[in-house]
Amino acid sequence: MKFVFLGPPGAGKGTVAAKASGFFHAPHISTGDVFRNAIAAGSPLGLKAKDVIEKGLLVDDETTVSLVRERLEADDVKDSYILDGFPRTLPQAEALDGFAKTEWTIYFDVPDSVVIARLSGRLICRRCGCIWHKTYNPPTKEGVCDKCGGELYERGDDKPDAIRERLAAYNELTVPLIEYYRKKGLLAVIDTNRDVSLILEDMKKRCCP
Ligand code: AP5
Ligand code: MG
Repeated sequence: MKFVFLGPPGAGKGTVAAKASGFFHAPHISTGDVFRNAIAAGSPLGLKAKDVIEKGLLVDDETTVSLVRERLEADDVKDSYILDGFPRTLPQAEALDGFAKTEWTIYFDVPDSVVIARLSGRLICRRCGCIWHKTYNPPTKEGVCDKCGGELYERGDDKPDAIRERLAAYNELTVPLIEYYRKKGLLAVIDTNRDVSLILEDMKKRCCP
């Protein structure tokens, strides 16, 4: 199954993708993770994306589309994948239609207040990328990933100013994609203001009838 995960920052796209990826045998492709790995590695892509991401703005369409197009040429994603955080502009969605056939767009429906609370306490493992939350999904030992023992950190763009910019960019540039996919009959609206296991069950019901 070929999925697009669409939703505001902090909606839980990465958290659900980590679980759905196993169930649907669909590799998880997060453009945000690709950029963060490039920044950590100090690669040319990372140098280009660093300032933009820290300010909460979007990386340009050309750069983002070309990295996704290249990733989707690999063998492991011939039949299934989860695109998390891509597309997030109309030009990106139109470009994706030119080289891939989206089967389901999962829209993560969650109120703004929940998004802020989720982003404010998020922790990420520096080694395996596992996502934690200080209150909703805390690690057993403070600052340490239960899964791999790696160090947990707070994302640079989870600061109040950057969160404001990310929500503004989402509302201006990404929200129009809800209608774009609805018109194509590909949109599944999922209430993501509840436990991750219930979200996954709902996704299975909607997408594997
Ligand atoms: P990206 O990494 O994609 O960030 P985002 O879209 O802002 O989304 P997040 O990763 O912040 O949230 P999420 O929905 O994955 O939530 P999560 O599962 O972590 O992009 C980062 C930046 O890269 C962008 O701002 C942009 O600059 C650039 N970029 C990326 N893609 C781009 C593109 N296509 N074009 C241009 N630029 C691009 O969950 C959040 C927290 O909530 C966690 O702590 C988690 O534990 C908790 N949580 C999750 N689900 C639940 C639940 N059901 N109940 C309780 N807690 C929960
Ligand atoms: Mg994410």
